[in-house]
Amino acid sequence: MMNGFSSQSPAPKRLEGKVAVITGGASGIGESTARLFVKHGAKVVIADVQDELGRKVCEDLGPSHEQNITYVHCDVTNELDVKNAVDAAITKYGQLDIMYNNAGITGGLDFTVLGTDADDFKRVFDVNVYGAFLGAKHAARVMIPAKRGAILFTASLASMVAGEAPHAYAMSKHAVVGLTKNLCVELGEHGIRVNCISPCAIATPLLRKAMGMEKSAVEAMVAASANLKGLAPTAEDVAEAALYLASDEAKYISGVNLAVDGGYSTTNHSFSAVIKNMQ
Ligand SMILES: NC(=O)c1ccc[n+]([C@@H]2O[C@H](COP(=O)([O-])OP(=O)(O)OC[C@H]3O[C@@H](n4cnc5c(N)ncnc54)[C@H](O)[C@@H]3O)[C@@H](O)[C@H]2O)c1
Repeated sequence: MMNGFSSQSPAPKRLEGKVAVITGGASGIGESTARLFVKHGAKVVIADVQDELGRKVCEDLGPSHEQNITYVHCDVTNELDVKNAVDAAITKYGQLDIMYNNAGITGGLDFTVLGTDADDFKRVFDVNVYGAFLGAKHAARVMIPAKRGAILFTASLASMVAGEAPHAYAMSKHAVVGLTKNLCVELGEHGIRVNCISPCAIATPLLRKAMGMEKSAVEAMVAASANLKGLAPTAEDVAEAALYLASDEAKYISGVNLAVDGGYSTTNHSFSAVIKNMQ
């Protein structure tokens, strides 16, 4: 027996009876979260623009997948699409308990202020900030009357550590943290919790594309710069944080920006590296 469960008994399902919408759920962190949420008994609506991938994630979960997981096409920058994704959860599964606003893009990878392209800047804000806002708005529309719910966002390490992402991306993720806090205050009186998660670099398609590298090469780079040694951070690690924040185990947690970064944001190894090199 460990933690009161025999080694034979199945792990407890932590989202039984709950319904979630996950934007950007066709790939990377959103996909891992969709799979984990279903495993924990939730009904999930994946909302994404990658239709083929999104449908494949659903089909992977078996022939009766429609009972547990559905894909809807949803560009988070389009309010009608976001409204439809939330309404799909209500129509199909009867309620909405968890809204995970996770869809995001890096935008162009020029880190300099002079090299920042105006259209690219606006696109990053449109997806990462306005898209996240729309998700929260339409979730609140159905959660306020229900007097319960959990709204989550994926921010980024870029909301905590400066200089390691393009300006538009870093600004957009700071904005997501600001939205988390402001909404936490507004929606608290309706019984709705609002939190965000800030992952470090994880070798999802987003980062692999941005770095132009294979998964193993990205993981090797991340491992070399990591604070916590011995393992590479994965999309599943972020999904586990989302599971906790979405579950009733976190029923009194709101307004938090939870770093999933192995402590990277707490330190700066540069000084000790210089000292070590001098010895
Ligand atoms: N991978 C990392 O290193 C990392 C680190 C910190 C934060 N993040 C954040 O995590 C989130 C998920 O990224 P990921 O790494 O899993 O990348 P990913 O590219 O694997 O997944 C992102 C998903 O968002 C979807 N998407 C993009 N624009 C959209 C739109 N307009 N409408 C709907 N869906 C849209 C994409 O189709 C994709 O399926 C993003 O917000 C990203 O900024 C990622």
